[in-house]
Order: sequence, then C-alpha cells, then structure tokens
Amino acid sequence: MSTYVVLLGPPGAGKGTQAKILARETGLVHVSSGDLFREHLSQQTELGKLARSYMDRGELVPDEVTIQMIRERLERPDCQAGAILDGFPRTTVQADALEALLQEHHARVDLVPLITAPLEVLVDRLGGRWTCRAQGHVYHEKYNPPRQPGRCDIDGSELYQRDDDRSETVQRRIQVYFEQTAPLIDYYRQRGVLLEVDGTQPIEAVTAILLQAIQAVRTARV
Ligand code: AP5
Repeated sequence: MSTYVVLLGPPGAGKGTQAKILARETGLVHVSSGDLFREHLSQQTELGKLARSYMDRGELVPDEVTIQMIRERLERPDCQAGAILDGFPRTTVQADALEALLQEHHARVDLVPLITAPLEVLVDRLGGRWTCRAQGHVYHEKYNPPRQPGRCDIDGSELYQRDDDRSETVQRRIQVYFEQTAPLIDYYRQRGVLLEVDGTQPIEAVTAILLQAIQAVRTARV
C-alpha cells in the first residue's frame, strides 16, 4: 500500500529539512517542486527559464506547468510506494490535480502535516539558510551549521545561498503563501488528514512527531 504525505507550511517553516530526514527514515521518495525547478534552472531547460522569471519575484510558477512536472515525477516507478511531497500542492487547482492523479493509482493523500512558525522566525531562518549545491541538503548558520563552513556534511559539496532568499523576495513569498497556499489548510482539514505541528521546536522534535504520525497512518491501514 502506498503512503503520500504532503508537507504544508510557509517558506522557512522547515518542510525541506524534514522531508529529507523523513525520506531517509521511511524509504519514501522526497519530491520537492522547488528542487525540481532548481534542477531545471541549473540545466537551463525551457521550463527552468520560465520558472526563474517567477521564482526570482517570489511568485508561483503557473499551475499548468507545475502540475505537469509533478505528474511526470510521481509516475516514475520509485514513487509507486508513495512520496513525501514538499512544496506541492500550493494552490487548490494543484491540490485537485494531485487528488485526481492519485485516484488514478487507487491512492490518496494520507497525511498533511502543517508546519508553522511566526513570521520573524521564518525571516530569520531564510536569511541564514545555506543549501548544498549537489543534493539540496539544508543548513542554517546559527541553528543547524555544517561541521565545516561552506561544505555539506553529507556529500562535501559547496553550500550556497538561494537567490530567492533576498529579503524583498522573502517578504513576497510569505505573502503569496498566505494568499494562495493557506486555503489548503481548510481543504485538507475537511478531508481529515491535517496535522498541525509547531515548527519552532528543535528539528529532531519535529521529526519525531512526523515519524510517529506516518507510522500511525501506515499501521491503521494494515
Ligand atoms: P520552494 O523551494 O518550495 O521554497 P518554499 O516553499 O518557499 O520553502 P523553503 O524551501 O524556502 O522553506 P522550507 O519550509 O523548506 O524550509 P527549510 O527546511 O529549507 O519554492 C521556491 C519557489 O519555487 C517558489 O517561490 C515558487 O516560485 C516556485 N514553486 C515551488 N513549488 C511550486 C508550486 N507547487 N507551484 C508554483 N510554484 C512553485 O528551512 C529553512 C531554514 O530553517 C534552513 O536554514 C534550516 O536549516 C532551518 N530550520 C529548519 N527547521 C528548523 C528548526 N526546527 N529549528 C531551527 N532551524 C530550522
């Protein structure tokens, strides 16, 4: 039986950090729409060029191309057992498309952790974030520093600061989250799959809550 988890929350809440750990611990594939767009950017594909024009302004990439990209990713064989979705869906149109896609595979969104943190925490986290060039592992200069400055602990690659973590873009990304993505909170609450998690806790504490919830979902279905 497959398990699909959607991590919901504003920029900087810790979705990417948790998704990478959860994927390692559960064996589910981490599917990040932001990482997929950044791969396209680095390969300078047409989709990458289109995405950049939106990402640089902190706006959402249009639904149609985003849905198509995620559809192709979820239809690869490694997602048959499920996935940890990070950054998708971000609009109700995307959420409806995901529901329809999973239904085709007799699956559903099983769990939607909503990771929250106050605005000042989000801004502080994004301002100090460093990301690994090779695989997108995430660090923070104060809260989760790498052992060697500028190098990823896991794969040794260079760490860089994302272009869209400039303060004016961060403000817009947070605003876009509240305008376009926050309606998904009620969308998933009505479906009985929402789990609110306080994202200001230490990374390990958030992970423990999420792992327990995923385990509970899997156990309930056996
Ligand atoms: P995306 O890459 O998805 O960015 P985001 O949603 O804005 O989320 P972030 O990656 O900024 O934050 P996060 O919650 O993952 O936090 P993280 O774990 O890194 O999207 C980028 C852009 O792509 C969008 O603006 C849009 O243009 C486009 N896009 C993507 N998906 C799209 C879609 N579906 N539709 C349309 N457009 C789309 O943590 C942040 C920092 O905090 C790190 O430094 C970390 O070390 C630290 N930290 C994490 N947890 C803790 C903790 N518990 N305590 C202390 N520090 C912590």
